Amino acid sequence: MENGQPPLSHVVPPEKLPRHIAIIMDGNGRWAKRQGKPRLAGHEAGSETVRRLLGYCRDAGIAYLTLYAFSTENWSRPPDEVAGLMNLLGYFIRKNEAELLEKQVRLRVIGRREDLPEPLQADILRLERETEHFERQLLIGLSYSGRSEIARAARRLAEQVKAGTLAPEAIDEAAVAANLYAPDVPDPDLIIRTSGEMRISNFLLWQCAYSEIYVTPVLWPDFDERAFRDALLAYAARDRRFGGVKV
Ligand code: FPP
Repeated sequence: MENGQPPLSHVVPPEKLPRHIAIIMDGNGRWAKRQGKPRLAGHEAGSETVRRLLGYCRDAGIAYLTLYAFSTENWSRPPDEVAGLMNLLGYFIRKNEAELLEKQVRLRVIGRREDLPEPLQADILRLERETEHFERQLLIGLSYSGRSEIARAARRLAEQVKAGTLAPEAIDEAAVAANLYAPDVPDPDLIIRTSGEMRISNFLLWQCAYSEIYVTPVLWPDFDERAFRDALLAYAARDRRFGGVKV
């Protein structure tokens, strides 16, 4: 019991808990502006939210967490903001290496990792290898976009057809899904977007087909345990039908 609240593991019954939560972390810039600080201060505060969130997910028993940290479109931001974000991501990975190992969390990056600065690519690869045997997973979208992920899957399928290992008529939904960045990860049950925007912004376009979407006005740096609880409660109250009807 914390602040009169039940522990995160008891907020909703286990069968009402999302297995996979994906988050569009929005509002760092607005948070910084409200504080009269540079945008990068918002991203730093947002990175602290990520660290706290890992604890909430562990306590609640969430198996998969995917974070949209940098989209393919984000490269068009001012160069100092892009450089600052890349530094911050590298710092986050190095700083949390021991913690991820100790807490047994598998790190995976989805996106065009070849676009990232080489030292960051090396840090990512090292930690991915060190953690690849763990079951709970943290996926981070870096230079990620849903459309480019689907285009990449199409390209990979075309290569298999060309090589004679795949018949065109064998291309079905499962074949496309098998060529996404993390084919073994279940689709997100819950997609959270902070800062009130009602958009999917090119995030997990294939995987979001039946995801429940929850938008909160809270800005990402302010997303705390209470905001996380509210999202879990909202999800638990949803009636998921996957296109069917309730009998
Ligand atoms: C959107 O806010 C946020 C981003 C583009 C960056 C998200 C990055 C972090 C939270 C930093 C660290 C991430 C990890 C995984 C350690 P915005 O800048 O678009 O905000 P605005 O819409 O208010 O301007």
